[in-house]
Amino acid sequence: MRMTVIGTGYLGATHAACMAELGHDVLGVDVDTAKIESLKAGTVPFYEPGLPEVLTRNLEAGRLDFTTDYAEAARFANVHFLGVGTPQKRGSYAADMTYVRAVVQDLVPLLEGDHIILGKSTVPVGTAAELQELADELARPGTTVEIAWNPEFLREGYAVKDTITPDRIVLGVRKEESRAEEVAREVYATPISQGTPFLVMDLPTAELVKVSANAFLATKISFINAVSEVCESSGGDITALADAIGFDERIGRKFLGAGLGFGGGCLPKDIRAFMARAGELGADDALTFLREVDAVNMRRRDRVVHLTRKLSGGNLLGKRVTVLGAAFKPNSDDVRDSPALSVAGSLSLAGAAVSVYDPEAMDNARKVFPTLDYAETVEEALDEADIVVLATEWQQFRDLDPVATGELVNNKVIIDGRNVLPVQAWQDAGWNIQALGRNL
Ligand SMILES: NC(=O)c1ccc[n+]([C@@H]2O[C@H](COP(=O)([O-])OP(=O)(O)OC[C@H]3O[C@@H](n4cnc5c(N)ncnc54)[C@H](O)[C@@H]3O)[C@@H](O)[C@H]2O)c1
Repeated sequence: MRMTVIGTGYLGATHAACMAELGHDVLGVDVDTAKIESLKAGTVPFYEPGLPEVLTRNLEAGRLDFTTDYAEAARFANVHFLGVGTPQKRGSYAADMTYVRAVVQDLVPLLEGDHIILGKSTVPVGTAAELQELADELARPGTTVEIAWNPEFLREGYAVKDTITPDRIVLGVRKEESRAEEVAREVYATPISQGTPFLVMDLPTAELVKVSANAFLATKISFINAVSEVCESSGGDITALADAIGFDERIGRKFLGAGLGFGGGCLPKDIRAFMARAGELGADDALTFLREVDAVNMRRRDRVVHLTRKLSGGNLLGKRVTVLGAAFKPNSDDVRDSPALSVAGSLSLAGAAVSVYDPEAMDNARKVFPTLDYAETVEEALDEADIVVLATEWQQFRDLDPVATGELVNNKVIIDGRNVLPVQAWQDAGWNIQALGRNL
């Protein structure tokens, strides 16, 4: 099948390359010339394990190309995936829909014949219906454009696997006559033939599935972090507690890792946009609990800053603090709303001399927080540290040898912000190790 993928960021570049990997002819489209040049040259402009290989293999096979030209996209195919960003709007909780609308405004007047736009971006409920109206207004006489929604569930760090073998495919279709299911079945013929559940539903439900999934995951993380606060006050241990409740199949251990909480380009803005949309629909009471989910999450960052100050004798001025991690999670270079960078920034603003190291996210971190000190290696970051904060649970940090690390620092004091270090080994090496939700 021939298809375009409009918006080639984390989602779109992955989707374009993986659709080509499934055997389709794909044209990726973006307004960012540098990104398109990079992708055309076979370089993924962000860190995603396995994606560079898929990209180059399919460029070489001639199944994949990239452009900034919407006219070329309009001629190339009759199926278009829409994967542009929907960030939080400035000064509001709502999603900024400018980019999504711009795609329809720029693409639809150029189309001829019968086209389908499959939305993949995470959007407020009601968006697809609105875009359908816009597309109907803009379409040339004799041209038809159907809008359907096919939300994306990929996880950064596992994006290739999640796109080629997703755990489910969700498709929202309009009530009127629709070709979307037939088209989507052909696009996803391979995963469907391998048994991936393919769920067809109405448009609002499909839009809500995505934000509900993210709201649930955020709630699960904040739940354990809220209990973690009680553990801190009562002498309990959050990791033992999470293990114990996690054995209950109805609860499950996944997403019960207490620590610095969630961040990134999705969960925080998605729960806020969900609340904002519910408010517009007069259903704001339904989601007020998400405000608390957000607040619990943000308090964990404050807690780490507070603990660092306490362990520094009450004053951060001039203290050398090493922050291990800048990405919002391991196996990604994404620093959007990163808890690690938030903590590093707060410590720096409180007067600490902060040295940051991340295996992949240094360039992105420098752009967001140019005033922090970025070390070339983990050893350089740890050199003469008064206190170390593990903020992103990269394997490299989990594997640190407490004895060798102890020889680099001034004071053997570490805060495990992700509850991933073997406490006994660090204590045996003479470290004062502190962790969120535990009394060590
Ligand atoms: N990143 C993820 O893990 C993930 C997972 C599931 C869903 N999503 C959703 O997917 C969407 C995209 O997220 P992302 O992380 O890829 O964002 P991103 O910022 O990495 O990418 C967005 C891309 O869209 C491009 N763009 C903006 N306006 C455009 C236009 N008019 N025409 C063509 N391209 C345009 C930008 O240049 C950018 O390359 C969001 O709605 C997000 O919530 C993301």
